[in-house]
Amino acid sequence: MQRVQKVIAASGICSRRHAEELIKSRRVSVNDKVVEELGFKVSDKDIVKVDGIPLKKEEKVYYLLNKPRGVITSSKDEKNRRTVVDLIDDDRRIYPVGRLDYDTIGVLLLTNDGEFANILMHPSDDVEKVYVAKVKGMILKDKLNSLRNGVLIDGVMTKKANVKVMRYDKKTNISMVRITIHEGRYHQVKRMFESVGCDVLKLKREKEFIFDLVGLKSGEYRKLTPKEVAIVYSLKKK
Ligand code: URA
Repeated sequence: MQRVQKVIAASGICSRRHAEELIKSRRVSVNDKVVEELGFKVSDKDIVKVDGIPLKKEEKVYYLLNKPRGVITSSKDEKNRRTVVDLIDDDRRIYPVGRLDYDTIGVLLLTNDGEFANILMHPSDDVEKVYVAKVKGMILKDKLNSLRNGVLIDGVMTKKANVKVMRYDKKTNISMVRITIHEGRYHQVKRMFESVGCDVLKLKREKEFIFDLVGLKSGEYRKLTPKEVAIVYSLKKK
């Protein structure tokens, strides 16, 4: 839900300030009822009209980015650092679906479709996230089992995870671990490893749901196909 003046401004016909003036002058309606208050909220399904003319709906767009290191996952940064949105050549108001840390690389979706974003961000068994973590030290069986069965983060257990050590290098004392989770809590993977006494040195998201990095170099992106978008929406019907 968004304030109606924000929706009017986003459609490109005027500034938010001017949209407020339009509301005060009773020139704005939602579903054919004149809007009486500035804070009025509307959803995607509501029909907003100005002077009886419906706003043009912004075309929905969907991108898959191979996020590079050193880019912030947000639409804006108060310190003016580069954001993932800056990497996409599109003037619409797109935003990332969930987040990856500044130093985490890999699969990141971006869109201007709130419903699409909600479907993927809602923890679900269908939406798995596969990470490869470069971890200091050797991960022994008891630690692996803890990671698999759940560890406490902020007093709440993590859900079951699939965890596999791909390699251990004795010389550098470094393990490469593939971990699959179905949640997206803040710094989840790093904090899971931390909770068993291991530091994550590097982290890459290889896959989220059906989306992987095939064909995308670091910093590259592509549009999703209509079929891919439909597959995400099919999760909603379950
Ligand atoms: N877990 C983390 O700790 N960091 C990320 O960026 C993603 C998952």
